Amino acid sequence: MSTLPGVGTRVLAAKVLDAVVHRGRSLKAELGKVLPQLPDPRDRALLEAMCFGALRQRARYDAALQLWLQKPLGDKDGELRALLLTGFAQIDAMGLPPHAALSVTVEAARALGRPHQAGMVNALLRRAQREGFPTADPAAAWPAWRRKKINLEWGDHAAAIFEASAHAAPLWLRVNRLQGTRDEYDARLHDAAIACAADDALPDALRIDSPVAVTALPGFAEGAASVQDGSAQQVADALSPAPGARVLDACAAPGGKAAHLLERDPALRLLALDVDPRRLNRVRETLARTGGVAEFRAVDAADVQAWWDGEPFDAVLLDAPCTATGIVRRQPDVLLHRTPEDLTSLIALQSRLLDSVWRVVRPGGVLVYATCSILKDENEFQVEAFLKRTPDARAEPLHAGYGHAAGPGRQRLPGERGMDGFFYARMLKLG
Ligand SMILES: C[S@@+](CC[C@H](N)C(=O)[O-])C[C@H]1O[C@@H](n2cnc3c(N)ncnc32)[C@H](O)[C@@H]1O
Repeated sequence: MSTLPGVGTRVLAAKVLDAVVHRGRSLKAELGKVLPQLPDPRDRALLEAMCFGALRQRARYDAALQLWLQKPLGDKDGELRALLLTGFAQIDAMGLPPHAALSVTVEAARALGRPHQAGMVNALLRRAQREGFPTADPAAAWPAWRRKKINLEWGDHAAAIFEASAHAAPLWLRVNRLQGTRDEYDARLHDAAIACAADDALPDALRIDSPVAVTALPGFAEGAASVQDGSAQQVADALSPAPGARVLDACAAPGGKAAHLLERDPALRLLALDVDPRRLNRVRETLARTGGVAEFRAVDAADVQAWWDGEPFDAVLLDAPCTATGIVRRQPDVLLHRTPEDLTSLIALQSRLLDSVWRVVRPGGVLVYATCSILKDENEFQVEAFLKRTPDARAEPLHAGYGHAAGPGRQRLPGERGMDGFFYARMLKLG
């Protein structure tokens, strides 16, 4: 066994990537299995950075392997191929100095039982370091059916969508109003030597452009700030419930938007639903940390009879399950796993949820439908169809600060103003 520090982390990263890229596994689930094996948080951060970097820049790294290998690697070389991707990510996406990346990755090839291929790994990594990578269209990382859809639906914006989806997102924070102002938290970050920027249109947000561990954020454990993308923070603005309103968060886990609404108005009477009991527990944890009080039910929100006591809601948030095509930079493996059939069943689920939770909105109340998708079938077409079959629903306009006009709603595209892709539509129930 090698004594070079960091070899074990590279080996684990290669195993994770092999499972995700070649065997259809979820990145989150695979990371969940291996991260606990690394006691040092720096090793955990390194492993995550290698996996995310390799997945986000897969189009360029795959192009390099295709160009530089005389003979493609075989089916049995999955782990080695994954190790090469992690090596490329260290040199390129993470910008590690060669002395920190090369020999340890070559050593990892030996530790993976591939001593006969260690020379090849060394040669390829040196070439990458010397020559850089061939240019490749980031769209190549997207499955053809989705690429086609995005080109068709977003035309001139498509190239920017693919490009933004291949790069790491900034770290967006939501400052907890219950614990102080944004300016006060800005000053705490400044004291901790963490540079951040405010966005005038997002009253609770601060943006950090260089990677920082959340544990380094002042007061994080006590709920002074939370991680939440700018576009997700705009959902609270789109809903803007009246003080003390009765609010339903129909798909609440892990609880970012529920927490935000309660930080703005702790007097809200909020019911948080999620079909997944384990995920609903995460909402409980989120609110325990940030100081919010709510009721919880682990149920299918569409099964209204099972959970509704008959008292209508002033405001309903339906942050619906979706393809996550707006947050590929955060979940790069969604490009590898989702099929056209998944899209069809998500569209059916979204429309079932819309029809069901509409029943519990009081006349004069509002429903905000939101997704982190950029596909029109899940967004503007979904809401257009809902409005057509729902005579007592009227779309309320949202201003251009929410993104591009998209039928009855607005669409933020990934990377715009540093944000994730997000769709918002606000519907009023006529009395
Ligand atoms: C986009 S996430 C919600 C994110 C959450 N609003 C937040 O801000 O943290 C969608 C959630 O919908 C839940 N979900 C899916 N189908 C559901 C259903 N039929 N009823 C209730 N929740 C459902 C999923 O378990 C998932 O937690």
